[in-house]
Amino acid sequence: MTSDLILAALGGVLDPDLRADIVALKFVKNVAVAAGRAAFTVELSSPSAVARERVRAAAVAAVAAVPGITAVDVTMAFSVRATSAPEHGKPPLPGVKNVIAVGAGKGGVGKTTVAVNLAVALSKLGARVGMLDGDIYGPNVPLMFGLQAQLQMDGKVIRPAEKFGIQIVSMGFLAQEDSPMIWRGPMLHSAIQQFCRDVGWQDLDYLIVDMPPGTGDVALSLSQTVPAAGAIVVTTPQQVSLADSKRAVRMYQKLNIPTLGMVENMAFYECINCHHEADIFGHGGGEQMANELQVPFLGRLPIYQPIRVGGDRGIPLVIAEPESVAAKAFTALAEATVIQIAVAAQQNAITHKGKIPLVHVK
Ligand SMILES: Nc1ncnc2c1ncn2[C@@H]1O[C@H](COP(=O)(O)OP(=O)(O)O)[C@@H](O)[C@H]1O
Ligand SMILES: [Mg+2]
Ligand SMILES: [Zn+2]
Repeated sequence: MTSDLILAALGGVLDPDLRADIVALKFVKNVAVAAGRAAFTVELSSPSAVARERVRAAAVAAVAAVPGITAVDVTMAFSVRATSAPEHGKPPLPGVKNVIAVGAGKGGVGKTTVAVNLAVALSKLGARVGMLDGDIYGPNVPLMFGLQAQLQMDGKVIRPAEKFGIQIVSMGFLAQEDSPMIWRGPMLHSAIQQFCRDVGWQDLDYLIVDMPPGTGDVALSLSQTVPAAGAIVVTTPQQVSLADSKRAVRMYQKLNIPTLGMVENMAFYECINCHHEADIFGHGGGEQMANELQVPFLGRLPIYQPIRVGGDRGIPLVIAEPESVAAKAFTALAEATVIQIAVAAQQNAITHKGKIPLVHVK
């Protein structure tokens, strides 16, 4: 019995998102066979729990069917790949594999709420996650994480605060409590530059950036500075918000930042008493808009009072009520996001032949 037979069997197992087999993708490692027992590791390129369980089951079944194998020992792992390609013109951020911008056509649609809960949901999938609060008008990330941090410097480098395992830097760390932040042109520009370039991020798979609202100068300038792998556009079901979201998607398109997808926040109502759901704004507006703009639709999030309470108390809903419909919707958003990133990284790898080995789909 050789490991070749095991590899041959695993060659029939597909990564469900990359649509290539896990051997060709070089995801199979440490194959060992002894006394009818096969052991191996599968290292996926995303922390998706859905993909992990599907691949685990398929790998166990494939290897168990090899004649002579009586036991299968599979270790599932992941190693997130970086998508930021140098030809985007922006150098990658040190310590960060993938920057994900969370934007919206306007304020009040739940951009920060989505960004914060997405960050926590990604972290719960096992990823290393950071959060950059780029909303200089309303830096609400510290509030929603229950953080009262001040800016910590290590020489010239900003040291992120940490909460719930997430590395966090906010423009709000600069503000005096209760005093509005007033930014003047050059100061604003240098602050944005520093917040983008001079942070000592530690080994992040994903850095979530809560973007300034809208498509004005600040949003534009930050979008041009941050080497984003992609953007998530938050919308709400009302027509006005959808029109604004269209502008946001167009802005990212112009800047060559791929839109990973649109997410519809406050898409339906979930009652805290009986948990009945109601489509108070109609159904399908966000998805229709995403189709129209030819960007992926990443899902619908309920309007649910504990989401707002969690934001005010500084305990994100995904932590406060992990079993709720809403938390599951945020987890689904995190799943969709990591898959979009993994697929983009794979396409990068194929496009930039030579640098990263080409994958052959059998
Ligand atoms: N899905 C939701 N359910 C209930 N409340 C929400 C939801 N999304 C956002 N909110 C609340 O709406 C308000 C605005 O959200 P916020 O994330 O600050 O928006 P933005 O960052 O786009 O300005 C906050 O009080 C927040 O708690
Ligand atoms: Mg906000
Ligand atoms: Zn009810």
